Amino acid sequence: MHPTLNMAIKAARRAGSIITRASEDIGSLTVSDKGYNDFVSEVDMASEKEIIRVLKVAYPDHAFLGEESGLSHQADNVWIIDPLDGTTNFLHGIPQYSVSIALEQKGDITQAVVYDPNRNDLFTATKGQGAYLNQRRIRVSNKAKLKDSILGTGFPFRDFKHLPVYLKIFEEVIRGTSGVRRPGSAALDLAYVAAGWFDGFFEINLSKWDIAAGGLIVTEAGGIVSDFSEKPGWIDSGNIVATNPKIYDPLIKIIQSHITDDLT
Ligand code: IPD
Ligand code: CA
Ligand code: CA
Repeated sequence: MHPTLNMAIKAARRAGSIITRASEDIGSLTVSDKGYNDFVSEVDMASEKEIIRVLKVAYPDHAFLGEESGLSHQADNVWIIDPLDGTTNFLHGIPQYSVSIALEQKGDITQAVVYDPNRNDLFTATKGQGAYLNQRRIRVSNKAKLKDSILGTGFPFRDFKHLPVYLKIFEEVIRGTSGVRRPGSAALDLAYVAAGWFDGFFEINLSKWDIAAGGLIVTEAGGIVSDFSEKPGWIDSGNIVATNPKIYDPLIKIIQSHITDDLT
């Protein structure tokens, strides 16, 4: 295993322990509002602090882009961190959340970890070396028809600007697939595509830390990841489609038939 990936795994597991300990007494946590329907707890903060602490010891020159602390400084190597992806689930005691850590080197994502502390599932990838779940190689699914597919998604819940477009896409996909799931952690949704549990995933308006790690894990598992214009801009736009290669075309066609200019 790549030594840099190992360090990211160490950081993710440490963060997972902090989150799991805190999950035993959610009532005692201090929670504040970052914005409408956007909560942050002391656990998000503690998790991010620990991840940065672990990685800084090993890589003192690297920069950090954390959801809670922002960008530390400009550098060739930037760690992109979501210390708790699925905070709303966590705060409700719903055991579906994750830690997401990716390394971006000169604009390229090269290392990725998505860790689910509830199932102790560790999804990892190093660019060019495949994707793994608990050290076993994973591949995207083989489903050839959208009709037989299960898709993951995330509903808009903070900013409703794109809700009308989303609902049109949503109606067409619920009619045209075997089912749609909204588990609540985008990083894990992407990991599920990589593992072949979901055949595809789409969401509008995500942040870089939600998708940087999961995106690499999907491509390393043989999947396709793009924005809604079939281009690689998903990491910056946050508008993302990730599927096995067989259902990519029918799904992107549905999305493209409904989106407005600001989503291309
Ligand atoms: C959220 C989750 C959710 C997605 C939201 C994200 P957070 O992350 O990934 O599934 O639908 O858009 O913001 O806020 O819990 O880290
Ligand atoms: Ca997130
Ligand atoms: Ca988060």
